[in-house]
Amino acid sequence: MPRKIIAGNWKMNLSFAQAMALADAVADALPKDGTAEVVLAPPFPYLRDVLGRTGHRDRMALAAQNCSSHESGAYTGEVSAGMLSSIGVDFVIIGHSERRQYFSETSALLAEKVKRCVAHGLIPIFCCGETLPERERGEEKSVVRQQLQDGLFHLAPDLLRDCIIAYEPVWAIGTGKTATVEQVAQMHTFMRECLQAMDSSCTDVPLLYGGSVNARNASELFSAPNVDGALVGGASLIAHDFISIIQSMR
Ligand code: PGA
Repeated sequence: MPRKIIAGNWKMNLSFAQAMALADAVADALPKDGTAEVVLAPPFPYLRDVLGRTGHRDRMALAAQNCSSHESGAYTGEVSAGMLSSIGVDFVIIGHSERRQYFSETSALLAEKVKRCVAHGLIPIFCCGETLPERERGEEKSVVRQQLQDGLFHLAPDLLRDCIIAYEPVWAIGTGKTATVEQVAQMHTFMRECLQAMDSSCTDVPLLYGGSVNARNASELFSAPNVDGALVGGASLIAHDFISIIQSMR
């Protein structure tokens, strides 16, 4: 059985005080009997403090939103996988569509980032997903397969099987437009097949859905086959909504 994971991607939001209040609120309200692991992805400067407030909780862990493709050295402004690992971060979001789109991150670069992560024992939450024109042309599966092949499937099966994949159709991110349960089910089943085709030991890689997940639509999305959790943006900034999404995962 794949692990169940609900991850909150705070993106470039919140003051330090707001971020601490949100971390406390989520940790305090975390259901004791829940099945899902909860992963918070605050901005870099808040990682250590969020960890200090949540690290003692079972089933809570921390993700960075990005890392450098380089090991170390003269790369002003970059943060390395080794640094993240050394402060207790467990996961790194790699290849979010905002990184691909606004920071021109290519699959070749993402493949390097994935390598750095696993070399430092960090688990990549590897994002993939098609744009609206690609879906309209019926290319969504081939786009996602190519993104997985180029960015993630270079890993040996014993490393790939510990990774996490997030399917985030670009047209559903931050738009309030959620993919239908049928669309999500189809893509997740397809991704499961891709994993199976890679190596039978990789079948249980958790497959998260992301794109306008909220407290109202989470239960229905989680009922779809092969959906093992969510990568939540906007709704993860509101403690009550995020907790309600966590509670929707059974
Ligand atoms: P959203 O963002 O939930 O605000 O659509 C999801 C994401 O970007 O991971």
